[in-house]
Amino acid sequence: MQLTFLLTVAALAAPTLAHQHHNHNTTVGPEHGSLVIVGGNLQRSDIWQRIISLAGGPDAPIVVIPTAGGEATYDQNFSSAVTLRQQGANKVTVLHTYDPAVADTEEFVAPLREAKGIFFGGGRQWRIVDAYAGTKTEKAFQAVLGRGGVISGSSAGASIQGSFLARGDTKSNQVMVGDHTVGFGYLKNAAIDQHVLVRNRHFDMFDILKAYPKLLGVAIDEDTALEVHKNNATVIGSTYAIVYDGKFWSREEGYVKTIPPPEARFYFLRPGDVYDLALREVIQPNGTVPLNG
Ligand SMILES: *[C@@H]1O[C@H](CO)[C@@H](O)[C@H](O)[C@H]1NC(C)=O
Ligand SMILES: *[C@@H]1O[C@H](CO)[C@@H](O)[C@H](O)[C@H]1NC(C)=O
Ligand SMILES: *[C@@H]1O[C@H](CO)[C@@H](O)[C@H](O)[C@H]1NC(C)=O
Ligand SMILES: *[C@@H]1O[C@H](CO)[C@@H](O)[C@H](O)[C@H]1NC(C)=O
Repeated sequence: MQLTFLLTVAALAAPTLAHQHHNHNTTVGPEHGSLVIVGGNLQRSDIWQRIISLAGGPDAPIVVIPTAGGEATYDQNFSSAVTLRQQGANKVTVLHTYDPAVADTEEFVAPLREAKGIFFGGGRQWRIVDAYAGTKTEKAFQAVLGRGGVISGSSAGASIQGSFLARGDTKSNQVMVGDHTVGFGYLKNAAIDQHVLVRNRHFDMFDILKAYPKLLGVAIDEDTALEVHKNNATVIGSTYAIVYDGKFWSREEGYVKTIPPPEARFYFLRPGDVYDLALREVIQPNGTVPLNG
């Protein structure tokens, strides 16, 4: 008990030592532009408004990709596009194909050439990979970040943003390491899960981390998002995001807790908490709870 306490105090007192184990200049988030990664069931107006604002405001062109949904066809009134228009976005285009040959044509890519925002809708994330991976369209998504825009998405549209594609199996969304494992990698060295608290998915990430222990795991609850600028991920929205980095953190000052071994740990971040994706630590807690508090 006492030894645990001393070790904890030592760890808290030596943050600079801990930093040396990480490469300070590894960019895990995008070098330019930003990400809004939503854990499913996006309702909150303030999250939609962040997406529009980060795209550059109501007149910024935003392209909505419904492809994860798996419907036979889509028109310009796909639900997320309608919501974005209701939220004030004036230039919203729905863009869809299941055919990578089509996705590789200049004609198809045209609406993306001046887009400042992308929104990936929900469904099955492997459909986005099958349609767009390696095509001109995928390159054009990346270019939106390059010109300082925002890539956003909810549910499947969250997971696609990781370098590792969580739940990428064509047979079942319950398989964490499936027949598709490569995402679009806007967040590097990371796997992203969604709907985590509502569906009690909080242990599922370990299926991925057992196989790929160097990945950072993040799991986001519904109507909650990570807003990412370079290596900073800030929680916004309704509930919590979970971090799996082999460490533990609590907003209780001087905490001494019984916690599981590193490969079984996770902890929660609430709205306003800021996490450094490269250092893998909380850099700005939204509030602390003092001893005896
Ligand atoms: C990044 O850090 C490494 C050492 O960890 C250093 O050698 C390299 O020059 C740095 N690169 C930049 C761009 O700062
Ligand atoms: C989309 O909705 C608008 C407004 O209700 C309507 O005028 C338009 O015809 C619809 N477009 C399609 C392709 O259904
Ligand atoms: C990251 O967050 C820290 C702490 O809030 C802040 O000082 C820094 O400017 C932020 N960097 C970016 C790129 O947002
Ligand atoms: C800080 O956390 C509280 C409780 O979750 C929340 O009400 C508040 O909005 C958060 N502040 C910020 C800046 O997000």
